[in-house]
Amino acid sequence: MENGEVVGILDMILDDETLKTTSLGEGLGAFLQVIAVHPDHQYKGIGQKLYVEALTKLKSFNVTFIELYTRGDEPANNFYKKLGFEKKVEYYDVFGIEKGLRSPISIEIKDGRIYAQDEKGKPCDYVITEGIYEVYTLEAIDKIEYDRYYPSIGYYKQL
Ligand SMILES: CC(C)(COP(=O)(O)OP(=O)(O)OC[C@H]1O[C@@H](n2cnc3c(N)ncnc32)[C@H](O)[C@@H]1OP(=O)(O)O)[C@@H](O)C(=O)NCCC(=O)NCCS
Repeated sequence: MENGEVVGILDMILDDETLKTTSLGEGLGAFLQVIAVHPDHQYKGIGQKLYVEALTKLKSFNVTFIELYTRGDEPANNFYKKLGFEKKVEYYDVFGIEKGLRSPISIEIKDGRIYAQDEKGKPCDYVITEGIYEVYTLEAIDKIEYDRYYPSIGYYKQL
């Protein structure tokens, strides 16, 4: 808070014995889901303060590491490295559809309902239009007919 205004947020999901969100470490961890500082207040140490405060709160929980994912954005990657996080993994979130999977269909709209047929005239009640693929190598992105993709970089820090 600054002058009664919220200028940053941080949200973590803590693993427990019944539900584990993290995957980069053994045992129980904390998954840092959101950290964001208002654009007018960035680069003034607020992100770091939020993080330090979160670390203090984590002391009363039974977690041994923090895990998070970010895209290729340089300030964010710098920020996590500055806080002592180590890059553990990198893959790609690819928005599209696997090549060869987009089947040609024809569509008719009648009485507010869509009637679709495949290329052989067989009715189909559902089709896949596009999805998010988690792609593990840069070369494999070529197998997808994509609109866009982003790197997803996984960071880890032992507490
Ligand atoms: C990433 C973010 C949370 C950092 O918070 P912040 O309050 O701006 O960062 P701080 O001022 O605490 O900076 C701490 C360190 O991060 C790095 N950093 C922060 N902003 C940076 C920028 N624009 N360019 C380069 N490095 C940057 C620096 O190493 C800095 O340390 P230094 O001041 O000693 O150089 C904030 O910029 C943000 O909300 N960005 C948009 C949302 C986002 O990217 N969230 C994370 C995505 S998962």
